[in-house]
Amino acid sequence: MSSETILQATNLGRRFRVGQETIDVLAGLELSVARCERVAIMGASGCGKTTLLHLAAGMDTPSNGSVSLLGTDLAQLAEPALTRLRARRIGLIFQDFNLIDSLTALENIRLPLWLNRQPEAPDRLSALVETLGISALLDRMPAALSGGEKQRVAIARALIHQPDLILADEPTGSLDETTADRVLALFDQVIGSSQSALLMVTHNREAARLCERQLILRNGALQPAA
Ligand SMILES: Nc1ncnc2c1ncn2[C@@H]1O[C@H](COP(=O)(O)OP(=O)(O)O)[C@@H](O)[C@H]1O
Ligand SMILES: [Mg+2]
Repeated sequence: MSSETILQATNLGRRFRVGQETIDVLAGLELSVARCERVAIMGASGCGKTTLLHLAAGMDTPSNGSVSLLGTDLAQLAEPALTRLRARRIGLIFQDFNLIDSLTALENIRLPLWLNRQPEAPDRLSALVETLGISALLDRMPAALSGGEKQRVAIARALIHQPDLILADEPTGSLDETTADRVLALFDQVIGSSQSALLMVTHNREAARLCERQLILRNGALQPAA
């Protein structure tokens, strides 16, 4: 059970066309993430980390190769099956948070449960908001939150539905050290209770060290960190 593959990227490529030029941001990338595994991705700005997470979430289409989630090749799924799979199985913490401006913090956090028609989870919700220190902010609109507060709301939203795969794009980038430690402990807790896997982009060496594997994205592919 614990060796079940959650995410598999095979010969993954993503090419962008910018004017006359094409750039192969990802090329021949291989990655396999098992249930309960934590994988840290590091790499220079612009090397393709966010591109990789978007592909892993089925929010972008590969130019080459494939991405499978829980054994299903995402390219074989048409909408709305893809949206359904993503909404239920993935918790994505975007680099720029992507909160819905017209919803309160609480409504943002509850959104995955509504979309998935999952029951309200008051105990899980209060445990999450307490750990993240956002209990007093739940009625605020995103515009009235600081960057770090938005990031914590986005983290609660990504975890509320107990996803199989947590995709986190620099999830502690806007947080102080103490709060960052709490977030990393929270990931561990969710992985323990939901048997999830974590794929986390981070520049934080401490955070990377807590993961079973540390990989560097360079020249379009992943290699073990030195
Ligand atoms: N939609 C797009 N169109 C053209 N170029 C893009 C697009 N998205 C990303 N890129 C380019 O791909 C490269 C990798 O971007 P990104 O994945 O955001 O890097 P990172 O997250 O590692 O900083 C950058 O050079 C970026 O400009
Ligand atoms: Mg990025």
